[in-house]
Amino acid sequence: MTRLSGITPSGHAHVGNYLGAIRRWAREGAQGDLYFVSDLHAMTTAYHPQRLRARARELLATLIASGIEPNQVFVQSDLIREIGALTWLLECTCAYGEAARMTQFKEKSGTDGKIAARVGLLTYPVLMAADILLQGADEVPVGDDQEQHVELARALARRFNSTHGEVFTVPRAVTPRAAARVRDLADPTRKMDKSATDAAGVIFVLDEPDMVRRKIKRAVTDGLERLEYRPDDQPGLANLLEILAACLGKSPREVADGYPSYDSLKDAVAEALIEELRPIRTGTLSLLADIDHLDKIRAEGAIRARERGQHRLESALRLAGVG
Ligand code: AMP
Ligand code: TRP
Repeated sequence: MTRLSGITPSGHAHVGNYLGAIRRWAREGAQGDLYFVSDLHAMTTAYHPQRLRARARELLATLIASGIEPNQVFVQSDLIREIGALTWLLECTCAYGEAARMTQFKEKSGTDGKIAARVGLLTYPVLMAADILLQGADEVPVGDDQEQHVELARALARRFNSTHGEVFTVPRAVTPRAAARVRDLADPTRKMDKSATDAAGVIFVLDEPDMVRRKIKRAVTDGLERLEYRPDDQPGLANLLEILAACLGKSPREVADGYPSYDSLKDAVAEALIEELRPIRTGTLSLLADIDHLDKIRAEGAIRARERGQHRLESALRLAGVG
């Protein structure tokens, strides 16, 4: 059984990425699982090449510093030839309407009327299917926003298999039990997001302790005086309780009892988060300080992932009548 998931370096990793995805991967991952930096996915909207390269490297270091085994990680673009080839086969398996009805495409392609949406934004779920199918993943842990894309990967795997012959494992999305979404501290109606234009409500994994304290202090807490866990009425407070609970390994309701005031709660959240992030931050920075070592892990990961996918790609090309 192989689990595979990816994270896109469209910005610096934040606490939502860490608690909602990376930490789970590190804790729940088994031998043979794969977690990768999906840098090709960061190119679907305007981006800065040098920044992309730096962020991909930083995110790879964060995955390793978070406890994911170095032999379970790779960077997507190191397999661009294999993934690019498979993407084409799958694009020729995917109907235009199937891609165009993806919620994320509809949302993102409509956001800026002045800049035309790139074709890559339309076909990106097919690229994601190629990531998954190349490695023969059985399970794909993702947030609920990505479930639809994994459904597409399932549909494409089945269609390719029945049209050309059995080659792909049909993957399954696994969404976290507690579908907790860490929210933006400054605007708890939004989820914490790497590409938020205002970072006041986003705590990054690499933020220094004082920065974490400042951001938590300024977090919106809804102004009600009761310190209770009520996500619908008090989303800002609920968010803080969820973050604290995730750091302490308790439930949000349990932690709500312990604090007489917002100030004391905020202090506790800040200190718990700083301790939770400390090893990740220092581990990431020390990996980044030894680029040769990091590049070696990266190169070995690329070889492993490439070898793993090679036979599937070759079979798929042969069955499709090319190559
Ligand atoms: P993204 O930042 O959208 O590329 O997501 C990378 C991973 O982090 C996915 O598995 C998401 O489900 C997870 N993730 C992103 N934002 C949050 C958030 N605010 N709370 C919890 N998980 C998140
Ligand atoms: N698109 C995913 C995201 O934005 C990241 C991703 C890329 C991914 N390829 C993947 C996740 C393959 C799971 C499997 O969050």
